Amino acid sequence: MPESPPFVAPIDRDFIADPYPHYRRWLQGPRVFWHPEFFGGSWVVTRHADIKALLRDLENISTEKTGSLVDQFPPQYHDELRDVDHYLARWLAFIDPPKHVVLRNLLKPGFTPKVVSSFRPRVEAITHQLLDQALGSGSEGEMDLVRDFAYQLPVRVVSAMLGVPDEDHPRFMQLMDDLAMFLGNANPTVEAARAAKQALYELTDYFRGLAAHRRANPGQDLISILLAAEDDGQVLSEEELYAQCVFFLFAGHETTSNLIANAMLCLLRFPEEMARLRSDPGLIPSMVEEALRYEGPMQYTFRLARRDFQLFGQPVKQGDVLVVVFGAGNRDPAVFPDPDRFDIARQPNPHLTFGYGLQHCLGAGVARMEAQVAYQALLERLDRIELVEAEPQWHDVYRFRGLRRLPIRYVRRQ
Ligand code: HEM
Repeated sequence: MPESPPFVAPIDRDFIADPYPHYRRWLQGPRVFWHPEFFGGSWVVTRHADIKALLRDLENISTEKTGSLVDQFPPQYHDELRDVDHYLARWLAFIDPPKHVVLRNLLKPGFTPKVVSSFRPRVEAITHQLLDQALGSGSEGEMDLVRDFAYQLPVRVVSAMLGVPDEDHPRFMQLMDDLAMFLGNANPTVEAARAAKQALYELTDYFRGLAAHRRANPGQDLISILLAAEDDGQVLSEEELYAQCVFFLFAGHETTSNLIANAMLCLLRFPEEMARLRSDPGLIPSMVEEALRYEGPMQYTFRLARRDFQLFGQPVKQGDVLVVVFGAGNRDPAVFPDPDRFDIARQPNPHLTFGYGLQHCLGAGVARMEAQVAYQALLERLDRIELVEAEPQWHDVYRFRGLRRLPIRYVRRQ
């Protein structure tokens, strides 16, 4: 096993609570280095330009990495867990070109700016409903922004887009948690993999039923749009469709919840930026971009080496795991002047939090719209917001950076 440089620290609770001093050291170190704790050992790339270069290098990298998820467990578990690989291998994010391009083209009609804005009134309605419940009737109070709002909004929005009835949302949230505990952990347990397998079975069955219903009764929802999608004579197969529905739900839930809550934490830690936003709500879209950069809900992604090759002068072997740390690239001083400053009007802001290249997040427009609607509503309805706890409580999941809770004290706008 290669040696890791002396600046490599364990990825423990302290690291997760504040990875940024580590990133600063990583950014000053070699362009690529070995870290023993990602998937039992991986090559890590942190600089903004290098992350982009690696994600563009389709000759040498592959995203068909689901086999490595199950192979990280001892062989006696492989048969039992193999279905996890099979299900995940159908997700768009785990498919290489040329198949990726065909599939992505079939999914694109569900995410055009026109479709995204057609869902905006529904997102506004869900947002205000959640805030009505969370705020009650008093003129001031306390709420947990994560539990009472941020955690609930995205799953309801993606479910509404997919045409899932409201009463099924609580069950969906549990299943999403089961998937996140597995997929968000660099070193997941066998129990987490088992729970993820059950969640995949249950969700796939659910969408099988829903798609049959939509086929007979098409509507304005995403499933109906995708059932009708055709590109150059190609259509989505049934299994592909169910798999993408599960994936959309997963891809859009934890990440967007965390974006909304992380953005609030940033604004409360930089009160002058909160004041600036209140005096100019036109800055909401660029505040959302800055929150994506500053406390990005997706800290890293990874690829596999397709063959032996030289990665920025470092020989890597076929099958090696290559990790790109978006969170570090987003603080690269070569691209972001004063990178540790949270500046809601930062321009330009080419953060990497939605990924880069061929697999740039398909749902970025949805996530942006949701976060913008959420902040429009929060600023409209709350006059003063304060942190209740001085120390933020982060989830132990490094990849999906998010808060366990964010208690706030507020005064309502009269
Ligand atoms: C703040 C919220 C979000 C963040 C930070 C985020 C981040 C990302 C990232 C980094 C990737 C690329 C992963 C890689 O290259 O390995 C990605 C891909 C993807 N995301 Fe998102 N995402 C968010 C919300 C959403 C939403 C709301 C949806 C759908 C409703 C969605 C659907 C997708 C899809 C379909 C892909 C795969 C694209 C492809 O492989 O071509 N995401 N996302």
